[in-house]
Amino acid sequence: MTGKLEGKVAFITGAARGQGRSHAVRLAQEGADIIGVDVPRHIPGLPYEPGTTEDLAETVRQVEALGRRFVAAEADVRDFDGLRSAVDAGVAELGRLDIVLANAGIVAPAPTLEMSEEQWQTMIDINLTGVWKTLKASVPHILAGGRGGSVVITSSLAAIVVQPNIAHYAAAKGGLIQLSNVLSKELAPKGIRVNTVHPGTVLTDMVLNEPTFRLFRPDLEHPTQEDFEEVARTLTGMPTSAIESVDISNAILYLVSDDGRYVTGTTHVVSAGLL
Ligand SMILES: NC(=O)c1ccc[n+]([C@@H]2O[C@H](COP(=O)([O-])OP(=O)(O)OC[C@H]3O[C@@H](n4cnc5c(N)ncnc54)[C@H](O)[C@@H]3O)[C@@H](O)[C@H]2O)c1
Repeated sequence: MTGKLEGKVAFITGAARGQGRSHAVRLAQEGADIIGVDVPRHIPGLPYEPGTTEDLAETVRQVEALGRRFVAAEADVRDFDGLRSAVDAGVAELGRLDIVLANAGIVAPAPTLEMSEEQWQTMIDINLTGVWKTLKASVPHILAGGRGGSVVITSSLAAIVVQPNIAHYAAAKGGLIQLSNVLSKELAPKGIRVNTVHPGTVLTDMVLNEPTFRLFRPDLEHPTQEDFEEVARTLTGMPTSAIESVDISNAILYLVSDDGRYVTGTTHVVSAGLL
């Protein structure tokens, strides 16, 4: 049996771990080769560390274990030239590009009127402008192939549901909806589909740290994962506190494969009822 993405090539940002790694593995299971980037260096103001060189190497190992190819590079989504070199090198090696997953992102909670200019700007630079740079560096390769393709931008439930202390994150993730909608309109005649995916709470390193636990438990000074999950469980409509990365990967697989061949310009929520 052939996979749903046999012969396809996908470019994924934030591929070192978490959802990005899960997407790489899930798409590779369906036959895709992968071009993946991540930023293995400290980001000032981030309350947790980004993915590492070793994490990215582990994603490569998992994809290659499936018999698929992976072209990896260290690139920051704030660096357009770095992104372009990474994608160009990947396409030169793998021969084409069909799918782009703009997945890389950060979160750094802070009250709206207390956050520094640097905190605001870093968030917008990575979570909004970084996505535009990702698309600008990669989608021309899909266009050049002339076969159509699919783009999925990882937004968040925070673009739809109001939560305090993440105004910069919510503004960036909300902005992604209209970036996606406008691009979907521009690219539809070329057979390229563009959608956003909106995860609820996913238990990745982005969430599994004290400042994020405190978003859910402002009543506690040092909330633990257990304290966080206790409240998170009451917020979902289903008997779970969170969803897993693979649940987002499966939604993305639907959007990028022929299963979703006429789905474009949509916001796709996966949240276990957290709305
Ligand atoms: N975890 C959640 O609950 C949740 C919920 C909604 C949306 N999201 C979104 O899902 C996406 C993936 O996050 P995750 O949950 O896998 O978290 P994660 O922190 O495990 O993974 C994010 C990856 O992006 C990379 N990254 C961060 N800044 C980068 C930059 N400037 N350039 C290149 N790579 C960079 C990180 O190094 C990391 O490997 C993010 O866009 C996030 O905002 C997450």
